Amino acid sequence: MRCKRSGLEIFTLTAVGFLGLIFLLNENDRDPTLIPRQETAEEDRVSHVLPTVPPTRDHKPVLNCRENSAVVNVSGFAQLPDHIKDFLRYRHCKEFPRILDVPNKCGGAQASKNVFLLLAIKSSPGNYERREIIRKTWGVEKVYQGVQVRRLFLTGVSSNLWEAKKTNRLLRLERREHMDILQWDFYDTFFNLTLKQVLFHQWMEEMCPGVRFIFNGDDDVFVNTYNVVQYLVGLPSTNNSHLYVGQLIFNVGPIRETWSKYYVPEQITKSNSYPPYCGGGGILMSGFTFHAIYQASLDIELFPIDDVYLGMCLDKAGLAPASHMGMSTVGVSIPSSKLEAFDPCYYKELLMVHRFIPYEMLVMWQALQEPNLVCGQMNKVYVGM
Ligand SMILES: *[C@@H]1O[C@H](CO)[C@@H](O)[C@H](O)[C@H]1NC(C)=O
Ligand SMILES: *[C@@H]1O[C@H](CO)[C@@H](O)[C@H](O)[C@H]1NC(C)=O
Ligand SMILES: *[C@@H]1O[C@H](CO)[C@@H](O)[C@H](O)[C@H]1NC(C)=O
Repeated sequence: MRCKRSGLEIFTLTAVGFLGLIFLLNENDRDPTLIPRQETAEEDRVSHVLPTVPPTRDHKPVLNCRENSAVVNVSGFAQLPDHIKDFLRYRHCKEFPRILDVPNKCGGAQASKNVFLLLAIKSSPGNYERREIIRKTWGVEKVYQGVQVRRLFLTGVSSNLWEAKKTNRLLRLERREHMDILQWDFYDTFFNLTLKQVLFHQWMEEMCPGVRFIFNGDDDVFVNTYNVVQYLVGLPSTNNSHLYVGQLIFNVGPIRETWSKYYVPEQITKSNSYPPYCGGGGILMSGFTFHAIYQASLDIELFPIDDVYLGMCLDKAGLAPASHMGMSTVGVSIPSSKLEAFDPCYYKELLMVHRFIPYEMLVMWQALQEPNLVCGQMNKVYVGM
């Protein structure tokens, strides 16, 4: 009896000790500030990923680049909204360290030519649910029609200090679990989206220069990855060809109304027109064009609206954007009733639709997988090219 009890006691003690150990290890996991060195080392072993810089502990972006204080002398500066002042102060800063990296996303620079399509999705740190749904639906990393598709979320740091403390941890966890988070140390704001784009081009030059096609879009779009792959596979196979399709916008210029989210004052650009561009909700481009944009961007100063900036780079590179009827970034002209709008047959023929809320994406993706989904006569939707 006693003997058995001791055995049980020893077992219990061992079990408690073991559980305690697991708890401690988990604690390290959840609180990166506790034992940073150990965690970094462990992460590196698991993932073979070396962060470019150690993650910052104070959650304040490290700015090697100083603000340009001379902008205060720009006429009318004092009257500008704060975010525009901020943009002008830091417009010249194009280098920011990476906090979370996934250098092996394409299997290294050499092997990156084996990646057919990279889905690069701009996502704000707090948009966890959107990322989760994309991972489960159109962002699944797998082989489609014999070609490799990879997924990557592009993010910065929340400009709210308390948010940043939480979301930086969240992003670390997500990266560890999914290996799909690329995070830079800059404030993830609307007017910094161009910066995010440019940093992504820099990263691609280094890590994935051989990728054949890139889908660059927002995390609130629904992409019919099957159709996108089918469309791209069907293109004439040349390695050095230009492709830049999406929803084409032309004959527009800067909005000069201060209340608008897109307000761009003359202090940012005097020009009253934008070059043709594709709406930034979702753009499909070739690796060739992606690289050409990077080259052009080296000589073009940042412009706050990211899709317009891409249009400026294309223009400089002597390339034109094209429209694609299968890609709508401002919501499709949906068949009359709400029910019909959700008809999977409708989406079966599209490449991408903007403004989906997460659960809709899940339902739609499931519906598209239905082997028994019977749709009427297929209209040829994509005629853009
Ligand atoms: C702004 O202009 C004034 C007058 O020309 C000059 O003294 C001052 O140094 C300028 N400030 C900056 C930050 O360049
Ligand atoms: C962009 O990010 C930098 C670095 O965090 C920040 O200093 C700047 O204020 C941000 N710009 C805007 C317009 O939010
Ligand atoms: C394109 O590049 C791939 C991989 O480098 C190569 O296998 C293929 O033959 C090339 N195709 C053309 C048309 O040049």
